[in-house]
Amino acid sequence: MSDAILSNREGGILTLTFHRLDKKNAITRAMYTALAQALEEAATDDTVRVAVIQGDPTCFTAGNDLADFLSNPPDMSPGAEPAPVVRFLNILRDFPKPLIAAVAGPAVGIGTTLLLHCDLVYAGDNAGFSLPFVNLGLCPEAGSSLLLPQIVGYQRAAEKLLFGEPFSAEDAQEMGLVNRVLPPTEVNAYAQAQAAKLAAKPATSLRVSKALMRQSNTEALHAVMLAELQQFGALLRGPATKEAISAVMEKRKPDFSKC
Ligand code: COA
Repeated sequence: MSDAILSNREGGILTLTFHRLDKKNAITRAMYTALAQALEEAATDDTVRVAVIQGDPTCFTAGNDLADFLSNPPDMSPGAEPAPVVRFLNILRDFPKPLIAAVAGPAVGIGTTLLLHCDLVYAGDNAGFSLPFVNLGLCPEAGSSLLLPQIVGYQRAAEKLLFGEPFSAEDAQEMGLVNRVLPPTEVNAYAQAQAAKLAAKPATSLRVSKALMRQSNTEALHAVMLAELQQFGALLRGPATKEAISAVMEKRKPDFSKC
């Protein structure tokens, strides 16, 4: 387990905590692997009845580690060994038990799109969601090109995905992305309390209910995630992404005039 992901199992609840605050909990390949492994094990371990993903009261995650993106872009071509991020996204999509997210502070990129796979999302009033894929020369991932329009409606999804501007917890709740907004220091405890309530319910009924709610989307979601990965993988190696990420790292404005 990467020491940037804390894992705790207690009372039937698996809690995974982003723990890389000096880099705003940006997710590295090792962190994706740790998350994927923990969720894969929890999926078949009867002692785990609910999982929670959380950050700190000041930061959920700044999304994919940008240095990793540049120096080690994941191979997303069909037939390739699944990159750690792909392995994480697959188990996130297929996780059969209730999955709760507790979000405070920034939730950038995959920090927002991972929430679309969670069953319940609780947010601090300081949460800032953003989907900056286009601004990074990329495209939506994690099934967000299907799930976001389904959850919030096409026009609102287009606004969030095409402009990539941050939006607040209040906006996210109003759009149906977040169940409840709380003071930032209370979010993780509230998520744990909700997880404990679910952990006391019949596990099979929870699993069957979740599967039934999701089954009509399964085929479409698999197809969309595959298409997104192919596009994302190609764009990641393109000139717009190189320029955009270099600009972020160098704290300057990007110049897309040649992209
Ligand atoms: N990957 C790698 N490092 C990151 C990072 C990321 N996604 N996000 C932040 N960091 C690092 C910064 O480089 C900085 O490192 P340094 O102290 O060594 O210079 C440190 O984390 C603190 O970041 P900073 O930008 O100073 O914090 P902030 O509070 O002003 O802003 C964010 C927080 C999340 C809004 C801002 O860091 C950000 O926009 N990050 C990029 C997010 C992004 O584009 N993610 C990819 C999505 S696909």
